[in-house]
Amino acid sequence: MTERNISTDSPEKRAAGIAASRMVESGMVVGLGTGSTVAYTIKELGRRVREEELEILGVVTSYQSETLAIEAGIPLATLSQHPELDIAIDGADQIDSKLYAIKGGGAAHTREKIVSTSARRFLVVADESKTSTQLDKPVPVEVLPFAKTLVIKKIKDLGGKPELRLALRKDGPVITDNGNFVLDADFGVINDPEGLALQLSSIPGVVEHGIFSNVDDLYIGKKDGSVKIV
Ligand code: 5RP
Repeated sequence: MTERNISTDSPEKRAAGIAASRMVESGMVVGLGTGSTVAYTIKELGRRVREEELEILGVVTSYQSETLAIEAGIPLATLSQHPELDIAIDGADQIDSKLYAIKGGGAAHTREKIVSTSARRFLVVADESKTSTQLDKPVPVEVLPFAKTLVIKKIKDLGGKPELRLALRKDGPVITDNGNFVLDADFGVINDPEGLALQLSSIPGVVEHGIFSNVDDLYIGKKDGSVKIV
């Protein structure tokens, strides 16, 4: 997974993460996303498990969220045990007015998409900087290492500019939790997220791309600690 600092304190992220955690009730199986915003959700759920007798099972989306959930004291289960989740909560890198989102800044979007698609309700938590009228950030594309060159060519044919994501030390590619590479593909403004999503999915060797079209509710945390729910 991409090495990112998830400990930076952010009032906006905390507000969004904690507000969304209030939708979680005892008895639920909860998909736990990856990243610095949903980390606040995970910590808050752990607090409620310890202090308020909240009884939940978490299904994690990465080794990072697994570590956080274990530290927080949230009992975990697998997707095989619970293929239908009650709710999933996760962050996003960008989200537009129609709730199409780009995810995968932490290289965890494949498992995040599987977990969120398994949930009856998918909540995204974000600070205001993530919102945009249209998507225009590079799309993370997880690829089988064997298929990297073909996928780069096909993304260029689609008008994108793909770049292999490098580890922070720039001593090699980022390796996902699934053992694959990530290409960040810049398409400029994405006018048709559904169309691009289908085109990317049809390239042999693409494991999963970071365009999400399954967001039900967006929790936007603001600097004053308030939260707007869309
Ligand atoms: C990981 C993700 C994250 O949810 C996304 O990058 C947002 O992270 P953060 O909350 O740290 O800004 O998609 O693959």
